[in-house]
Amino acid sequence: MKIAIPKETMPGETRVAMLPSEVKRLKSDDIAVLVEAGAGAGSFVSDADYEAVGAQIVSDIYPEADVVVKVNPPTDDELGKITDGTTLISLLAPFTNHDGVKSLSSKKVTSFCLELIPRTTYAQSMDVLSSQATVGGYRAVLNAANHLGKFFPMLMTPAGTIKPSTVLVIGAGVAGLQAIATASRLGAKVEAFDVRPAAREQVESLGAKFLYMDLDESSETDSGYAIEMDDEFIRKEMELLHDAAKRVDAIITTALIFGKKAPILIKDYMVEDMHDGSCIIDMAAENGGNCELTEPGKVVTKHGVVIDGSLNLPSEVPVHASQMFSKNIAKLLSDIIKEDKLEVDFENEVTKGCVVTHNGEIVHEMTKKIIEGAK
Ligand code: NAI
Repeated sequence: MKIAIPKETMPGETRVAMLPSEVKRLKSDDIAVLVEAGAGAGSFVSDADYEAVGAQIVSDIYPEADVVVKVNPPTDDELGKITDGTTLISLLAPFTNHDGVKSLSSKKVTSFCLELIPRTTYAQSMDVLSSQATVGGYRAVLNAANHLGKFFPMLMTPAGTIKPSTVLVIGAGVAGLQAIATASRLGAKVEAFDVRPAAREQVESLGAKFLYMDLDESSETDSGYAIEMDDEFIRKEMELLHDAAKRVDAIITTALIFGKKAPILIKDYMVEDMHDGSCIIDMAAENGGNCELTEPGKVVTKHGVVIDGSLNLPSEVPVHASQMFSKNIAKLLSDIIKEDKLEVDFENEVTKGCVVTHNGEIVHEMTKKIIEGAK
């Protein structure tokens, strides 16, 4: 079996799906690993590093591959190169990337979609959404610190006492909790809010203040995701956030609803009431943004507030983002490779949860429903 690691082609992407340390563990008499020339360069890994662990460097990776392991959903060009019957392990954006999913299905590609790895304790070590959200949450805080013309920590110096900056984190999932921890470590005073009552204790355990609002246990699904809140709840939430926005220096937004566009929680008038020189890092920009003034992929200044809609924050920390991604992939492969052969066993909880296309069909029910509903 030949497992192939292509060079990512998305502009600005620096990550690679597997690092030499994991390739070394994976290789066997029956498993060869092919790496596209330059695949690791963005993460400071050379072709020689891969060769040193027994990988073969190739320039045209797709024709020979049995299994392709990559970070970003394949582009049209890459979809054209993937050969019929290949197995693909990658992020796929399955609910929006309808043409990509259909094309994989028509090529009889078996696709393991990394966004759909079940969020269970068993599969936690394979969950790239969590690992990359951790990296993103960390980086978002550093970017906020960079935009502010202020210190984060309190300083008592002969030149006077500096008050700590205040940071508001909206959404306390994986990215939000990492943002809270990072901002606290830098010395900022942190406040946070989430619709899931369970988040309150996690926020407080990190030393941050949880903004008070009546929350209902039913705002969380069985798998721990938030449900979409009704208009009345969002109106009250915006009142709470508006109040906080007037006093904080930086807002980091991470609020998402699984499979949906990000909820708008910061309106124009709220930005207008923030003080000049403050900033918003909108981590939900990829899904439209939590702030209505966010321009995905851009850093803009509106009403004197820097609004950073940068996409792909994990790529700004390529070494550890790739390291964590690579570990997740290695765990997934060890779950689905039996006796040096990749098995597509729908009795396996991970396979059942994340395989989207197989044998020329879209086998993931939710994806199928969304794609058929869009016709
Ligand atoms: P996410 O990236 O889908 O969303 C981020 C956060 O936004 C969530 O905490 C959500 O509650 C919050 N949110 C949604 N609407 C909001 C609103 N209107 N206002 C404020 N906040 C809002 O979430 P993520 O980080 O992927 O985690 C979601 C859940 O999944 C958590 O309960 C987490 O513990 C659980 N999880 C479980 C894992 C496992 O068991 N393997 C792995 C990772 C997460």
